[in-house]
Amino acid sequence: MGHHELDGIARALVAPGKGILAADESTGTITRRLASVEVDSTEQNRRAYRELLFTTEGAERFISGVILFDETIHQQAADGTRFPEVLSHHGIVPGIKVDKGTVALAGFPGEKVTEGLDGLRDRLAFYVELGAKFTKWRAVITIGEGIPSDGCIVANAELLARFAALSQEAGLAPIVEPEVLMDGDHTIQRCYEVTVTTLAAVFDALRRHRVRLEGMLLKPNMVVSGSDCAEQAGVDEVAGATLGCMREVVPAAVPGIVFLSGGQSDEAATAHLNAINRRRPQPWQLSFSYGRALQAPVLEAWKGEPGNGPAAQRAFLRRATLNGAARSGDYRPEMEQSG
Ligand code: 13P
Repeated sequence: MGHHELDGIARALVAPGKGILAADESTGTITRRLASVEVDSTEQNRRAYRELLFTTEGAERFISGVILFDETIHQQAADGTRFPEVLSHHGIVPGIKVDKGTVALAGFPGEKVTEGLDGLRDRLAFYVELGAKFTKWRAVITIGEGIPSDGCIVANAELLARFAALSQEAGLAPIVEPEVLMDGDHTIQRCYEVTVTTLAAVFDALRRHRVRLEGMLLKPNMVVSGSDCAEQAGVDEVAGATLGCMREVVPAAVPGIVFLSGGQSDEAATAHLNAINRRRPQPWQLSFSYGRALQAPVLEAWKGEPGNGPAAQRAFLRRATLNGAARSGDYRPEMEQSG
């Protein structure tokens, strides 16, 4: 595959008015999400829940791509159609999480590193066969007393770059996700500094590894106050700080920035994205790749009852619609009340 196709995938994922559904929770994470609405995490329940999301009529107007987990990319809808094909038929691009999760970073108490490079070239070839067009790898940076360390940031940046280079070699557009966690009582200024330092290291590593910036997307955290910080920054401050940070370090060659929600409420994640998109023009498309912020109301409506399927799909379509509006800065908080 040439540059042309790779760049086309990245651009399609950030088409105006659309964003990405992150439905790539590992088995451990989806088990916690299902438990929160008292649903057992059986293979069948996980499959049924993902089918509900992927077959929501009209979602394709606001959802450009879906990130799948390894188990999910092998599963099928009730009619026997494999999930990647279900999505493609709706005009939604299927992607796959390829990291294998985080472990403690040896020698760096309280810090993490992401595993999954061993055998990745072969796994990527397999995912191409299954219909995947893009990939994701998540690195986690924790803010705390004396952390993050340079050692942790550099180790994670190097792995993200190796993952991105291997993905592009396989013809898959990588989503590079260095997440600075919201957890902690740090200020928004501290989040800004750590996010700038982290993203600068990530782009240094991407350049060193000859990753084509036009054929990838960045998935960062927004710049927000720590979740336990006494003083919580307002929507405009978050938008200004987030864009200031991105403008310092993200090259204009990157076609899009797709923010993660990272534990923000669904309404906050939409309001922040909207405020970010009201500050135009910017060099990149500014979009979403939300997990929790798109799915929280869906799980609440579903609760594992087949009869709740239509209500759950309405909840998903509603969140997708509101985030679609936020892509053009046309969301208003009053819209949360209607419908
Ligand atoms: P959240 O939006 O819930 O942070 O999930 C996005 C994601 O893909 C995390 O890896």
